[in-house]
Amino acid sequence: MRILVTGGAGFIGSNFVWYLLGLGHEVMVYDAFTYAGRPENLPSSVKVVRGDIVDKDKLFSVAREFQPDIIVNFAAETHVDRSIRDPEPFIRTNIYGVYTLLEVVRRIDTRLIHVSTDEVYGDLEGREPASEDTVLRPSNPYSATKASGDMLLMAYWRTYNIDASIVRPSNNYGPRQHPEKLIPKTIIRAVHGLPVIVHGNGSQRRDWLYVEDTCRAIWLVAEKGRPGEIYNVPGFNERSVLEVVEKILELLNKLEALFTSRVIGRARIEGT
Ligand SMILES: NC(=O)c1ccc[n+]([C@@H]2O[C@H](COP(=O)([O-])OP(=O)(O)OC[C@H]3O[C@@H](n4cnc5c(N)ncnc54)[C@H](O)[C@@H]3O)[C@@H](O)[C@H]2O)c1
Repeated sequence: MRILVTGGAGFIGSNFVWYLLGLGHEVMVYDAFTYAGRPENLPSSVKVVRGDIVDKDKLFSVAREFQPDIIVNFAAETHVDRSIRDPEPFIRTNIYGVYTLLEVVRRIDTRLIHVSTDEVYGDLEGREPASEDTVLRPSNPYSATKASGDMLLMAYWRTYNIDASIVRPSNNYGPRQHPEKLIPKTIIRAVHGLPVIVHGNGSQRRDWLYVEDTCRAIWLVAEKGRPGEIYNVPGFNERSVLEVVEKILELLNKLEALFTSRVIGRARIEGT
């Protein structure tokens, strides 16, 4: 099959590209190469177009020429801390960019798999695991823009009958993740003997999912999922941020590394 992967130079997108190539598919990557997109994440053999998903004309002409059977969208602003400092790029890419993609999908005969996140359900601490019908309670600008993109997609499916599905994985880890994210950042800082930084007291619980499992789930939805459906992809592997950090430090034999808290948005300082 011919697959256009938007945001394919980032963490999950590039893992997905390698996964598809392993299955023998023809892949084209469309990526704006923001700070999070790295050419070295991709094999040199793959076709790459530098472009912004907000650029409707360019995206449309690339898609019309390549004629993908499926478009899988990973292009997004993804770092929660950055969204708290400056929500604008998140609104631009995660909402307006999804609108642009939907307009392209409306005009060419293709299927869209949009990668969203379980963060649209908000904080699940003490609550039942989310189902696809759980009320959306995004708690920061990042997750609010992801929820908005999802709603736009569902509205386009109902209104224009486009062929599109949503995948909502939980927290991913694995190779090629940007060093600003918790696990790579913790490893890098610990290896260099720097203090390890966690938000508040690190009690926030996340469900951890290996990136290759996410890729398999996304491809399963691409092949067998129904239009207008949402598919949660949990890891069934819940750990607090502190537990994850402690495990890494234990494996690196660096348990003595300092913990420093900092204030982000309304997060509280819970000691150092
Ligand atoms: N990483 C996780 O734990 C996780 C969990 C669940 C869902 N997700 C979702 O999966 C998707 C991919 O996440 P990731 O962690 O790989 O992100 P990432 O930040 O590593 O990569 C994002 C990619 O999108 C590209 N991009 C950004 N803005 C763009 C634009 N306007 N036009 C074209 N390309 C653009 C970047 O250059 C980069 O290559 C996102 O939609 C994210 O919300 C991520």
